[in-house]
Amino acid sequence: MSKGTAYDVVDYPPLIHVAMHPSKLGAIGRLLGVGTASPRACRLLEVGCGDALQLLALAQAYPDSHFVGVDLSAKAIGRGEAMRAQLGLGNLQLFAADLTGWDPGAAPYDYIVAHGFFSWVPAFVREHLLALCKRSLAAEGIAYVSYNALPGCHLRRMAWEMMQFHVREVTDPVERVRKAREFLQWLGTDTLERGAYGPAIRHEAMHLLNDTQPAVLYHDDLSSINEPFSITGFIDQARKHGLEFLAEADYHEFNPALLGAEAQARFEAMCGPDRVANDQYLDFLKGRRFRQTLLCRTSAAPTDATLRTGAVHGLDVSGHIRAEPLDGQVPARAGMLRFASSDGAAISTNHAVVQAALRHVGDLFPRPIRVGTLLELARHEAASDEPLEDDANALAVTLARAFELGLVALQLDAPRFAAEAGDHPVASPLARAQAAAGREIVANLRPSMVSLDSRPALELLQLLDGSRDRAAILRDLATRMARHEVPAADGSLVAHPPEWWREQLAPRLEQAMALCVRNALLMGD
Ligand SMILES: C[S@@+](CC[C@H](N)C(=O)[O-])C[C@H]1O[C@@H](n2cnc3c(N)ncnc32)[C@H](O)[C@@H]1O
Repeated sequence: MSKGTAYDVVDYPPLIHVAMHPSKLGAIGRLLGVGTASPRACRLLEVGCGDALQLLALAQAYPDSHFVGVDLSAKAIGRGEAMRAQLGLGNLQLFAADLTGWDPGAAPYDYIVAHGFFSWVPAFVREHLLALCKRSLAAEGIAYVSYNALPGCHLRRMAWEMMQFHVREVTDPVERVRKAREFLQWLGTDTLERGAYGPAIRHEAMHLLNDTQPAVLYHDDLSSINEPFSITGFIDQARKHGLEFLAEADYHEFNPALLGAEAQARFEAMCGPDRVANDQYLDFLKGRRFRQTLLCRTSAAPTDATLRTGAVHGLDVSGHIRAEPLDGQVPARAGMLRFASSDGAAISTNHAVVQAALRHVGDLFPRPIRVGTLLELARHEAASDEPLEDDANALAVTLARAFELGLVALQLDAPRFAAEAGDHPVASPLARAQAAAGREIVANLRPSMVSLDSRPALELLQLLDGSRDRAAILRDLATRMARHEVPAADGSLVAHPPEWWREQLAPRLEQAMALCVRNALLMGD
């Protein structure tokens, strides 16, 4: 048992880290020719799981799989265990233990994940994690290890070291954070213009000040252990434990396909065919600061990094994409169409079945659809009389390319959620429990985090347990809201009776239910 660590003193904010979801890792495995287990029937271990929010979401989504979490902080595990018991999740086990003295048991794990761990523990703990992967990873299992990366962290380190110097004699966590933030404000304001130094330091200081939660600043940036690694250095360590580089979890974040044809040719000439060297050179171009690297056993490692397009048919696809006319022209139905995402990634096609499929993906967002089902729908809609195999191949090639570009997500047995609210809506029990515990940012069913930014939204979520129809939801929501004081026009706080709330809320209820659907908070298929 822990005697009390920094994580027992200052809580680390519970977060879902989307890239480490086994449906995403499994899809990458399958696309690279590894026979990774489906999250529907797997064993997954999370090391340094903190409050276990990710594991709770997984155990809820995949009742036939087995999830295990281990963390040194007895307090964090205690919170996770209380939530596990409240939700009655029998497929999740949590252990408050030091990884280096913990027995993972004899059964192998299909997935071993460790986020926000590797860079922040001593070298012998890092070694232990890799040794555990060697011992306990299934033959075709995937390990996910995130870490601070080089060369980007050379820049970050300048700001870290200066900030740590300033708080070197302060031990109280609250005071350490206050003083660090005061220092960052100063550094971000008064650093001299000296070549590249001034802009770089100001950027780092302002990023730490404005985009970093105080608890994260305390644990991650003010930590005495914070070791960045290059991808080559990390993989060298992993290879000593019989592990090999599989891919980066955030697959599309930066890959050669994003460089453009000329830059891609120069890049290939610079780094040669080695996959790890390839990523190393990409990191040089990007100034990479953080990595979420996937490892597999050397014996399961793919011989090349080409995506196996045939695997796409067994996956689920989702994407926030829409069709755009090319060159300002509204194209004819069978002409060229460009499909783009909000962040500017795009792909063009004149294949009618592929166009119909991509339109469906956009319409369904955020819900995923199995690619096999999508193909049937799209062939029907495009009235295709081409051989099934040809349409299937065209769709798979386009989706694999769209995945590389970050236009769509591919997942292996993605979690499901409702397409409409229904008569008696049921919200995620985990999200409801989080809202009841006072959290305003809760885990949805995609899963990711969603912010409930109003009191009615928080109260509504807690009422969606399947026992209420619309009339009962409105009645109970009005009763709950009557317990709260809200700002009046003159700025004073007033409480309104349930009848007043009923009148206010009735016209907005369907809109609020639709938002729950869009935010992937409602259970269903
Ligand atoms: C930065 S937090 C990350 C929490 C969570 N994985 C996340 O990313 O939100 C690091 C976690 O690792 C745990 N930890 C540190 N050393 C450990 C060890 N030797 N054994 C088990 N857990 C450890 C800490 O208690 C803490 O909860």
